[in-house]
Amino acid sequence: MLIKKGQDRNDWMTYRRDLEGHKKRRKVFAKRRQFDIDYFGIVLKIARFFLKLTGILKIMPNNYHKIIVRENELFSSKIKEPIRILHLSDLHLDENPDIVPLVMEKLKSVQADICIITGDFGTYRKNQQDTIERFNQLLPSIKEPLPVICILGNHDGHDLVAGLENGRLTFLTNQFVDLKIHNNNVRIIGCDDVHYFYRPENVEIFKNFESKDLNIALVHSPEIFDKVQESGADFYFCGHSHGGQIRLPPLRLITRCKRGRQFYIGRWVYQNMHGFTHSGIGASIIKWRLNTHPELVIHHIKPVSS
Ligand SMILES: [Fe+2]
Repeated sequence: MLIKKGQDRNDWMTYRRDLEGHKKRRKVFAKRRQFDIDYFGIVLKIARFFLKLTGILKIMPNNYHKIIVRENELFSSKIKEPIRILHLSDLHLDENPDIVPLVMEKLKSVQADICIITGDFGTYRKNQQDTIERFNQLLPSIKEPLPVICILGNHDGHDLVAGLENGRLTFLTNQFVDLKIHNNNVRIIGCDDVHYFYRPENVEIFKNFESKDLNIALVHSPEIFDKVQESGADFYFCGHSHGGQIRLPPLRLITRCKRGRQFYIGRWVYQNMHGFTHSGIGASIIKWRLNTHPELVIHHIKPVSS
């Protein structure tokens, strides 16, 4: 198990558990009403009902099963040797059990130095045991000895941490780890979800970045991009938006983001920080993807002379 520093796990868990019990969670970014997942979920459920009823869902173009491996090239003057990071996100395993063997097959050909997972292992907390079982089925496909560093998403319950954390897999709950990857010093800070479970500690943890290290932020959503950049992050890796999941140009209806909506898909840059918003692996509410693909992302971080 990696040595984690930062917020005490018990402190975090007490607060998170209380918040999960409240119907009205602390959504600090929900100052104005927006057409995000809370509303769009209802629309999708109605749409799913009619599309299934009429049989249209079967004949529509659908990328739901078409997993791609995306290579993302990044550069840093803080490293001496290249680093490869396998990035998974938004598996939603309770809703999408049929995607597990497909992901396992794709993982066979992936080479990396470390694996990160940016939340939403499942969708419904009542199905958490299914999520845990399906993830444990998938985990051996992530080649050992890759350490797996994870954060929770807005759909994940606090007890997922106890259910999944083991010698190979580490959750960062407003915490950080220092890694030596090849000859590089890498600090990875991961916070709890800020979409449903925001509190100041989720942002303050990023003040622990050290300028000499390669600083990587793991956040479930892109919503605190500016705060994390101010703290000195080099890279910001997230998911949550599913890349829109159903994109009907020029609309991008389901960003699920209350801030940072412009960063809802793929590569982006904010000042001197480079970000990547993963399009997710599973789908939510309706097994339909249009103009987006489920993806495994490999970030290739390469040295550049300063
Ligand atoms: Fe999410």
